[in-house]
Amino acid sequence: MEFQKVIEARQSVRKFNGKQVSEDIIREMISAAKEAPSWKNSQTSRYYCVVSPDQVAKFRETVLPVFNQNSTADATAYIVTTFKKGIAGFTQGTADNEVGDGWGAYDLGLHDMLLCAKAVELGVDTLIMGLRDANVVAEFCGIPDDEQVMCIIAVGYRADDVSKKPGRKAVDDIAKFVR
Ligand SMILES: Cc1cc2nc3c(=O)[nH]c(=O)nc-3n(C[C@H](O)[C@H](O)[C@H](O)COP(=O)(O)O)c2cc1C
Repeated sequence: MEFQKVIEARQSVRKFNGKQVSEDIIREMISAAKEAPSWKNSQTSRYYCVVSPDQVAKFRETVLPVFNQNSTADATAYIVTTFKKGIAGFTQGTADNEVGDGWGAYDLGLHDMLLCAKAVELGVDTLIMGLRDANVVAEFCGIPDDEQVMCIIAVGYRADDVSKKPGRKAVDDIAKFVR
């Protein structure tokens, strides 16, 4: 699929149709994610994939607020995205600048964007969710303390009647050209 089409077709889907997404597809999405750049190629992004129907249902009820549970009621997988703290943006344990672990979060965002874009190419839909209980997520997936839990990405196939992608600001509203 043409890159511009992928960019335009990606949207947050909050109504899925229950069709199972295969583990192979999730692997392809993560394989695309890992091509993203990262601070000194530190590659601190990590993925925890909840894929079996019983675990998916349990995970949904345990870690998500009701709003996100409802939006992803028929999603068939969840991908928890984390990054290893104190590495990206750090030299021997000392932050290289004021952003600190923000660089790990930045890198993870780059990776996650590729993951979501690859999903579009594969005909799969996603919903990035920042509203979740990080401590419960960590316990559910066995995530070690040196990783920061960031978002959960719901994965599935969209229902026929999803809402329209919301509008965007104009380039001139968000960019300043210094000449
Ligand atoms: C970091 C992040 C956290 C988000 N958390 C949630 C969430 O918890 N629940 C939700 O329904 N949408 C969530 N979203 C989706 C945004 O609301 C959505 O991306 C935005 O409205 C633009 O719509 P679009 O993705 O369809 O272009 C999140 C998006 C991002 C990037």
